Amino acid sequence: MANSHILTENNGSVATLRLNRPEALNALNAAMLDEVKLTIEAWDADPQIRAIVITGSEKAFAAGADIKEMIDKTHLDAMAENLLDGWYCIARCRTPTIAAVSGYALGGGCEVAMMCDILLCSDTARFGQPEITIGTIPGLGGTQRLTRRVGSAKAMELVLTGRMMDAEEAERSGLVSRVVPLAELEAQAQETAQRVAGFSGAAVRLARDCVHAAGSTTLEQGIALEQRAFHSLFGTEDQIEGMTAFAEKRTPNFKR
Ligand code: CAA
Repeated sequence: MANSHILTENNGSVATLRLNRPEALNALNAAMLDEVKLTIEAWDADPQIRAIVITGSEKAFAAGADIKEMIDKTHLDAMAENLLDGWYCIARCRTPTIAAVSGYALGGGCEVAMMCDILLCSDTARFGQPEITIGTIPGLGGTQRLTRRVGSAKAMELVLTGRMMDAEEAERSGLVSRVVPLAELEAQAQETAQRVAGFSGAAVRLARDCVHAAGSTTLEQGIALEQRAFHSLFGTEDQIEGMTAFAEKRTPNFKR
């Protein structure tokens, strides 16, 4: 389906959202956000959609928030409209999200990619938080998510210098889970999404919640949360089905 700033596609239980402002390297503007928010929230409410791929073009996942749209904003404007806050719909989405990044993922582009549960990239990807070069700082979680992923030494250098990382450095430093050849990125992202979509929804949801919690709990709290989540899955039909299918040497048929 074509909107004006995004393209969407559904393939069974996997939905794909493609950022599509090629003339601006997919810079994130308000009109694009309106479409993204509507789409993500509708998919998240649809039980048939069990994984979401978010991607861009070969040249750019997104080169950041739209600088030209922000030039004239005042402090009051930014506060009053809670500037950029709508993009957190991606972080809040409960359906698993897979970012497939090729080319530039800068500023808000890098931050949106980091909001996704799984971050895959092509060998042509370039990541960075260049906000310092335009007199500002990351405003969509970059100082927090980048630091949690790559550690404070590298995050501090990237945020203070605006230097870009190539795909190899991004994988080595833990920003992305996997680098694949450009020609394989789409297929690998779809395959990853289909795989996640095929598992028990309850197990996927709880696994995801526990991994996310690891960034903000003590080890003891995180382990307690995981233990309770693990125990609770024994109340699901999918746990019985999964274990029975293993014992019977067949493929499980997960329901929810
Ligand atoms: N906002 C608005 N327009 C942008 C843009 C952005 N973030 N990034 C690129 N564009 C536009 C360019 O202005 C240009 O438009 P025109 O043809 O109308 O001049 C078009 O996209 C193509 O860009 P370039 O000609 O610059 O392409 P290039 O290949 O020479 O350079 C680039 C590519 C290095 C990514 C360069 O475009 C660039 O530095 N972009 C800005 C990156 C940036 O600073 N991002 C952070 C934005 S602030 C932010 O994101 C805050 C936050 O935390 C949420």
